[in-house]
Amino acid sequence: MNELRFDGRVVIVTGAGAGLGRAYALLFAKRGASVVVNDLGGSRSGDGSSTKAADTVVSEIIVNGGKAVPDYNSVVDGDKLVQTALDNYGRIDVIVNNAGILRDKSFARISDSDWNLVHDVHLKGAFKVTQAAWPHFRKQNYGRVIFTSSNSGLYGNFGQANYSAAKLGLVGLCNTISIEGRKNNINCNVIVPTAASRLTEDILPPDFFAELKPELIAPVVVWLCHEDCTENGSIIESAAGWATKCHLVRGKGSLLRHRITDTVFPENVRDVWCQLTDMSQATRLESIEEASSTLLTVLDNIKFGSQQSMDDTNSVFCFTNRDSILYAIGVGASVREESDLKYLYESHEDFSVLPSYAILPSLMATMSSDIVTNAIPGKEFDLSQVLHGEQYLELHKPMPVDGKLVSKINISDVLDKGKNAVIVVDGKTYDEFGELIATTQICTFVLSAGGFGGKRASSVIVPVVDEPNRIPDSTVVEKTSVDQAAIYRLSGDLNPLHIDPSFATVAGYQQPILHGLATLGVSVRHILKQYANNDPKQFKALKVRFSKPVIPGQTLCTSMWREGNRIHFITTVKETNNIVLSGAYMELHKVNIPSEAHLVLCADTRDEVLSDAVFQGMQERIDLNPSLVKTINGIFLYYITKDGKTVRSWTADLKKGKIYKGEPEKGVKADTTLTIDDTDMIDLALGKLNPQMAFMKGKLKVKGNIMLAQKLKALNTEAKL
Ligand code: NAI
Repeated sequence: MNELRFDGRVVIVTGAGAGLGRAYALLFAKRGASVVVNDLGGSRSGDGSSTKAADTVVSEIIVNGGKAVPDYNSVVDGDKLVQTALDNYGRIDVIVNNAGILRDKSFARISDSDWNLVHDVHLKGAFKVTQAAWPHFRKQNYGRVIFTSSNSGLYGNFGQANYSAAKLGLVGLCNTISIEGRKNNINCNVIVPTAASRLTEDILPPDFFAELKPELIAPVVVWLCHEDCTENGSIIESAAGWATKCHLVRGKGSLLRHRITDTVFPENVRDVWCQLTDMSQATRLESIEEASSTLLTVLDNIKFGSQQSMDDTNSVFCFTNRDSILYAIGVGASVREESDLKYLYESHEDFSVLPSYAILPSLMATMSSDIVTNAIPGKEFDLSQVLHGEQYLELHKPMPVDGKLVSKINISDVLDKGKNAVIVVDGKTYDEFGELIATTQICTFVLSAGGFGGKRASSVIVPVVDEPNRIPDSTVVEKTSVDQAAIYRLSGDLNPLHIDPSFATVAGYQQPILHGLATLGVSVRHILKQYANNDPKQFKALKVRFSKPVIPGQTLCTSMWREGNRIHFITTVKETNNIVLSGAYMELHKVNIPSEAHLVLCADTRDEVLSDAVFQGMQERIDLNPSLVKTINGIFLYYITKDGKTVRSWTADLKKGKIYKGEPEKGVKADTTLTIDDTDMIDLALGKLNPQMAFMKGKLKVKGNIMLAQKLKALNTEAKL
């Protein structure tokens, strides 16, 4: 190893009679430097003085064959220290400002002398010694300076207000003189040590204390002071045989106004506080010029309105558990459902957010940037022309219940559909630690923005998938509240289309419409309940197309088909029969069908035929256990009544294993016809009503092959309903 030497160099180490200073002085001397061992020799709090400390270290150096002289002055008399160097060695090359004392008191109890003495030794002393050496450094075009700061200064520490202020003052001093000295090859850096010494003996735990030898930091300081080291203006932290550089960083910030004529109100600041305090994209500025030049860019952005740079497609989404709960209520979660409580109560042991909430961070990023409106060169349009066409969401980790997420969005495709255009926005949402939470894709449909000669098809769009061609395996019906959109919008999409009747009229609707994502949230709840035992952690991904609007208050029917871990679904409005969500599916990590899944019908479904769920359950049971068909081997026609009137018929073809709504298909004849009230059918399925008793009491009317009806018991028992 090429040894780093200091032969011919003269070094002043202040406070070198003990602790860190002593270790520095010994190492400099060992490497050939002539060392001025300065120490006032006072107490830890700066009282008194003695020559002993400096003399002891000088003797140690000389015994080891090194060159050293003592200096007993206080650093406040900086010129005297420099004079000692000049008198003894004729020059000065390096100053290590290390002397220090402590006068720890809580802020309220700091006296003027506590404040002044600490500032005198640390800040003024460093200033005085360094300033006295400065003309010599400039003249010889060479100098190395170390200031000693502290983590108390960088981060604060209880009881050390005077000390912290002085220690951070040294960082400021270094920042400027490292600039002023640069042209004369005078480098100045700050060391932030943690070491065992009399200053820390009652602060650090004994085991830790023993490991923090000052000798482990000395090589860092010695290297920083070597002529080969070009580091300048840096803060270097070191302890226990480890070192690193530290620096101040600046966040990306946020505009408080968007036009040069705008005034800034406190509310503007409040509204962007989350963004302006976000440090996830913080950067180091190299100079005050760089700080000023970014301010000029900010001003240009305000003046010329080009506020969103490409970088602005990174957007911060802050949310608390209140937001998670509000979202759940917005998509219809209710305390009426016991298993929904985990979405509604922050102290619930399983408190969770509905997975579809993870769409919002990248959606908000898209809505607040001009990425979409700038996507088609030469085409101007505004957000009122933009419709949410399709949505894809994949969760890589469960969505946290609160926190700060960063979404990065980019345009992945632009399609020309003739009259209209489709813009595809891909998003990635990360948590504060940079871990990927969600991947999203939003397909926006832009009215009257086509015809620009672009391509028609995309290879990047996650495709929608048609549902299987059979009756749904399961359907959940839920009436939305007339206030559904009024609540849902509080989760962030404040478009007046969803609340303001006159705005809705102008947009061509008879009344405000429900957010497509609110409808989706309702269906997500239904699917989780039916196929994942309402466990949000089972959610993996979803894709959906928004086909038609929903009016708040309408009844949503989510029809589901299970294919392995994929649940296909469509959502229809019961009152109009319109399909509002189509081509949709949800991927689950694991399917978990609760035993009473099909009876979990939602609120306000009094006019529903509740026992529909029983038949859907039958189909599922048969699919899971096809041998039942052979056991029963008959065709049953059910008439379901309400208040004595037949409201529904179902055919259970247990020869073919098919259950379907309505009378038997053409060419099929029922062996047995059963007529039963809707609620009795539920009770029968639940085992609350015995079929014989029901028959005896006239609740169950059976025509045709009565013996065959007995076999149905097997199906219901199997179903465990
Ligand atoms: P120390 O108390 O062992 O050494 C400091 C030396 O400075 C003493 O020998 C003292 O007599 C001398 N001194 C005090 N006032 C003086 C004055 N006016 N003129 C000349 N000499 C004077 O303490 P330690 O721990 O070695 O501290 C060295 C430097 O490192 C100090 O600036 C301290 O604030 C700083 N520091 C130490 C840390 C640690 O973990 N030990 C942590 C952060 C900073």
